[in-house]
Amino acid sequence: MAIYPGSFDPPTKGHLDLIARGSRIFDELVVAILRNPEKTPLFSVEERKEMIELLTSGYKNVRVDTFEGLTVDYATRVRATAVLRGIRAISDYEYELQMALMNRKLQPSLETVFMMPAEHYSYVSSRLVREIAAMGGPVGALVPGLIEQRLRAKFGAAKRSKATAASSERGRKRNLQS
Ligand code: PNS
Repeated sequence: MAIYPGSFDPPTKGHLDLIARGSRIFDELVVAILRNPEKTPLFSVEERKEMIELLTSGYKNVRVDTFEGLTVDYATRVRATAVLRGIRAISDYEYELQMALMNRKLQPSLETVFMMPAEHYSYVSSRLVREIAAMGGPVGALVPGLIEQRLRAKFGAAKRSKATAASSERGRKRNLQS
């Protein structure tokens, strides 16, 4: 059994491509979402879990979980023998190598397995997706339709609440002036 740990904020087509590949080589694959108290995510861990569950419901050997703390501790707890990670480009390699070797130091029996997503997803990252979606750009080629809708709902709601705040501020000023 392998775990595929990450932030998945939001899950992209690159992540799903890797899940598909991982599900074909491991008997069981657990997508493990890190609960990171140091970061303010765009989507809550619960939202991300639900989205990935919906997107992977077609795979019998894939499930989704969340974890806190060290990846190696979580892997040991769920008796995983491997950690799956994706490498898109050389730029990912240095960080991924460092993390894999550190995880090996912490837990020598746990193997890291790297897989390459389809090359047409090699430029896709959650960070860029967040940035493009926040500015109203098109993300349909980068994330599944479900995620595109959720992003639109999130940023549409953010825009609406900003507009509401601005209009109530204008109202407050008008009231002060009258
Ligand atoms: O999707 P990401 O943000 O690239 O995933 C990074 C993740 C979650 C795999 C990594 O930050 C991680 O394993 N965090 C858990 C804490 C931990 O084990 N840190 C030591 C790593 S050597």
